[in-house]
Amino acid sequence: MTKKIAPSLLSADFSTLKTEIETVENAGADLLHIDVMDGHFVPNITLGPFIVSAVRKCTKLPLDCHLMIENPEKYVDAFIKAGANMISVHAEVIQDEKIFKTLRNQNIKVGLALNPDKPLNQIEHFLPHVDYVLIMSVFAGFGGQVYLSKSTQKIKDLVRLRRKQKLSFEIEVDGGIKLDNVSEIAHAGADILVSGSGIFKSKDVKATIQSMKEKANE
Ligand code: DX5
Ligand code: ZN
Repeated sequence: MTKKIAPSLLSADFSTLKTEIETVENAGADLLHIDVMDGHFVPNITLGPFIVSAVRKCTKLPLDCHLMIENPEKYVDAFIKAGANMISVHAEVIQDEKIFKTLRNQNIKVGLALNPDKPLNQIEHFLPHVDYVLIMSVFAGFGGQVYLSKSTQKIKDLVRLRRKQKLSFEIEVDGGIKLDNVSEIAHAGADILVSGSGIFKSKDVKATIQSMKEKANE
């Protein structure tokens, strides 16, 4: 299956957001990754449904909302109304699979996100209920961090687990992905590669996305 590149808007220039979105869309981005942070689950605050609905007006790309928030069940409806197509919630803040069922009933692709210190054996029971697993390759909270190399083995372990459980969820990887490590991460088994600073802080956004796609798929 073709690997997807998901620019993370966190590193975009929000003073010219529409242009930033058009640039990545025209360059071949497959979806837009939107980082929602609440200042509680992570020590940073970013944006909410209000901005997601503005982004929705600028693009036809699927909007992938990564909720780094406590009590996600309280807010998911607002993100759906704003135009989210994919919503991931963190394993660290949910007790059971109820939220996944609610979202799937509304035709939203649901993701389970996990921080680097969350082992796969603690989330195995959630896997049959999700469309994708978001492996954080940095600790959630900020863009521009360095890829944690142990994430590559975690991706490979998750691929094995997926095969063992005969499931078909996608594997999304998020944090520190740049041109120089995108092949390693894709070859380990990532299906969706999120990149914020690696794309938006590069000299030529279009060329970067195109070569990321090539490297991920070669
Ligand atoms: C971090 C966010 C990431 C971040 C990635 O908490 O979830 O999506 O924007 O940014 P880079 O690619 O710069 O590490
Ligand atoms: Zn993210």
